[in-house]
Amino acid sequence: MSITLINNETNEKFEFETINCTRGPNAIDFSKLFETSGIFSYDPGYASTAGCKSTISYIDGKKGELYYKGYPIEELVAKYKYVDVCKLLLTDQLPQNDTESLEFELELRHRSFIHRTLMNMFSAFPTNAHPMAKLSSGVSILSTFYFDHAKMDSEEDRQTMARRIVAKIPTLATICYRNEIGAPIIHPDISRSYIENILFMLRAYPHERLKHGLHGEVEITPLEVEALDKILTLHADHGQNASTTTVRNVASTGVHPYAAISAGISALWGHLHGGANEKVLNQLEEIGDVKNVDQYIARVKDKNDSFKLMGFGHRVYKSYDPRAKILKRLKDDLQAKGIKMNPKLDEIAAKVEEVALKDDYFIERNLYPNVDFYSGTILRALQIPVRFFTPVFVIGRTVGWCAQLLEHVKNAQVRIARPRQVYIGK
Ligand code: ACO
Repeated sequence: MSITLINNETNEKFEFETINCTRGPNAIDFSKLFETSGIFSYDPGYASTAGCKSTISYIDGKKGELYYKGYPIEELVAKYKYVDVCKLLLTDQLPQNDTESLEFELELRHRSFIHRTLMNMFSAFPTNAHPMAKLSSGVSILSTFYFDHAKMDSEEDRQTMARRIVAKIPTLATICYRNEIGAPIIHPDISRSYIENILFMLRAYPHERLKHGLHGEVEITPLEVEALDKILTLHADHGQNASTTTVRNVASTGVHPYAAISAGISALWGHLHGGANEKVLNQLEEIGDVKNVDQYIARVKDKNDSFKLMGFGHRVYKSYDPRAKILKRLKDDLQAKGIKMNPKLDEIAAKVEEVALKDDYFIERNLYPNVDFYSGTILRALQIPVRFFTPVFVIGRTVGWCAQLLEHVKNAQVRIARPRQVYIGK
């Protein structure tokens, strides 16, 4: 199919081919629009623009569906471990059996250590610096230790680059937290699974536990490991969101891949993106009581008030975010199995959702809870501090950024990302 563009002033006609997507609406190929017609398109926020072709994840925004490499997210969360999903995103294949799964996980565990010099560098940050700032810097510094990854000529080079950072990101992230609370820096314990090790590195002798005389063995239950595993799977990839687009754009300049991922971390930090998980919890606390919910919903609708409901709305989903649906069920399931949620915040969150989903403002704009609305409630029940919520998102998403970056740089047709501007100055 082709689309004809007619300039009504000159009557000139320009024909553009459409590109068939394997799923979802087709696209007009406007890559030669300027060359052929002398005009260009204006699309701030890129709501109608695709910057790439991709095979990694697919979102059906109307139906509220999400797929990684063709697998529905519900199936991946129910049947596979997060590390299996990492293998899928990086190699196109789920492990065929438990041995393959363990082999891949062991590789990640063995690559999880970071150089002592880098560990020490974290102590140079002010202790109250936000962990996302430290994490973004830490990943950028990681490029100085693995400068060879600047060239990714062979599949082996590319896989090593990706696996190395997926393995090390929990270590880097948890150091940011330990540095904040003044806890001694520890090394990963590779006798533990990838996920258990994250909880271990967070919990091993932090001050809070010492205060309560809880030293000795770090307590981590299999249920907690399972919950965190599922949360990371839900965050592993999500089409061309702001941070992924940042990673692709930065990588398009030919820079070191860890510099591109560091930029992605910065983009994720924003409260309209991954930073929303931290803000949701703060907002629920600010609301403080179910009796105040109506008043906050009224603020959302007040044109003179910039107040937004954190954890609601999405550029692509115009129905319930499937990740939020899974998290809501997971929260109830964990509660039934004995993991304590904060009952007051839980009650407020349920009330906010109930009131919002019945309100015309939200109905007309198709605003539903997104992934960040319920993730915080669970992370908090796993004793993860609120300021560490977005770094947990980073841990889950790093594999997606790597897969997207590799897809981008492997494509010989890719040019430097360089949009135009509609100049309205003097
Ligand atoms: N609360 C109140 N109103 C909202 C919200 C919200 N959370 N989200 C969107 N709206 C309103 C907008 O004000 C706008 O109203 P208008 O038509 O009267 O101007 C309308 O809904 C459309 O919203 P846009 O801002 O145009 O939607 P956009 O696609 O640009 O933004 C975004 C999407 C950033 C996620 C937005 O919904 C938002 O700010 N949500 C809150 C922050 C959040 O939860 N972010 C996490 C997203 S998921 C993720 O990144 C991991």
